[in-house]
Amino acid sequence: MPLSRRHFLQTTSALAAAAPAPATPATANDRIQVGVIGAGARSHELMQALMTVPGAQIVGVTDAYKGRVERTLERVGKSAKPYPSFQSILSDKSIDAVVVATPDHWHKSIVIQAVEAGKDVYCEKPLTYTASEGMEIVRAAEKAKRIVQVGSQGVSSQTQTKAREWIRSGKLGKVTMIRAAYNRNTASGAWIYPIPPDASPKTVDWETFLGPAPKRPFSLERFFRWRCYEDYSGGIATDLFVHLCTTIHYLMDAKAPSRVMAMGELYRWTTSRDVPDTLNAILEYPEGFAVNLSSTFNNQLSAGGGFQILGTEGSIVLGDGMSFHAESAVEDNRWIVESWPSRLEADYYKSPKVRESEMPQTWKPRLRGELEVYHETGADTTNAHLSNWVDSIRSRKPPYEDALTGHRAAACAHMVNRSVKQRRMMEWDFRQEDIKA
Ligand SMILES: NC(=O)c1ccc[n+]([C@@H]2O[C@H](COP(=O)([O-])OP(=O)(O)OC[C@H]3O[C@@H](n4cnc5c(N)ncnc54)[C@H](O)[C@@H]3O)[C@@H](O)[C@H]2O)c1
Repeated sequence: MPLSRRHFLQTTSALAAAAPAPATPATANDRIQVGVIGAGARSHELMQALMTVPGAQIVGVTDAYKGRVERTLERVGKSAKPYPSFQSILSDKSIDAVVVATPDHWHKSIVIQAVEAGKDVYCEKPLTYTASEGMEIVRAAEKAKRIVQVGSQGVSSQTQTKAREWIRSGKLGKVTMIRAAYNRNTASGAWIYPIPPDASPKTVDWETFLGPAPKRPFSLERFFRWRCYEDYSGGIATDLFVHLCTTIHYLMDAKAPSRVMAMGELYRWTTSRDVPDTLNAILEYPEGFAVNLSSTFNNQLSAGGGFQILGTEGSIVLGDGMSFHAESAVEDNRWIVESWPSRLEADYYKSPKVRESEMPQTWKPRLRGELEVYHETGADTTNAHLSNWVDSIRSRKPPYEDALTGHRAAACAHMVNRSVKQRRMMEWDFRQEDIKA
């Protein structure tokens, strides 16, 4: 009797006794069978990328809006078939791995059920809807020995790898401060997305969307613009800051901020949401640096925002490409010593130390402001992140952004939101891996 494919995968891994986890073998024809849970806007980007990753095949899809399933079948072709629910994808033994790209309030429940069903998981960011969900997911994935990759794809970019290399080389001196922002001034930037004209209770499965969220009457705005509502999302912090925190933790080898203070207000888009459109946060890390995160949906003078990593010897600016700017600071105490008695001022300039550091003739080399620019080439970042996931499924080695990493980044966002709500500073419990009560 022919062995089922999955059984074959598990048997071969068991024979390779060195690997404790059930592994997927890397034979060219053995493609990882992927089910897609939540086939919305991001998921279509993921599917487009995954279709170009060797060794994986999208075989199933489920979504709470019929139009998204229809488009998936158009995009992926005959290899994919529709499933009535995520549970039916999870119980299909021929599916090895799942992409979870639902709204955030569903992530924990689906990811835990997926790993318990033996699936490896790619879960979109933020991994969690609340901080305390994080370790539940981490433990479930560890217990089931499943790979979980979280979808802040930036950490798979060559740019961030290079930035990390520059920081570790000492080129920046001591990094003491990071500033990062997301600024937008459009309705789509503020998540007021167009609603498909055929959307109605006939094509939209409202109960499936709601899941663990509070019961509410049918609402297309809530369904298609869920980021605007705290029943399903943590707004700017969980949608955007989470990417910044993932990058910061990766670049700085940091786990989590010890303290977070934030303020947020809803100034403009008042009729479309219950989350802030303006958010400012300060995060302090025990590794010895501080972070300012900010976002406005009301102005884009500095469009996109910017990302600056500031060190005592130089800074990195991330944006369209990346640049390193050497510090060009010079000592200049002229205006101070000019207030001293002139004999003391004259003596001051006789000191060899002062002559070395403060005389105008020494400024020039230090004012050079050395600049180095880096431009990424090669694979798209989402593609690279998915490739890393597929490699990890085969090798059983941790992916770039495992569940614990994803949990900590999402937790920063939850600390920000809780600080806004409770109007006080939040602290991280490094032992419990959760926010201190
Ligand atoms: N990594 C990135 O750069 C990036 C970019 C955008 C979105 N995202 C993340 O991707 C996820 C999805 O965001 P989106 O913009 O695609 O939202 P979306 O609303 O376009 O898609 C979500 C889809 O999930 C479906 N859905 C809801 N509940 C479901 C359930 N129980 N079972 C099956 N399907 C269900 C909805 O019908 C919808 O089509 C979010 O977690 C978001 O934060 C990540």
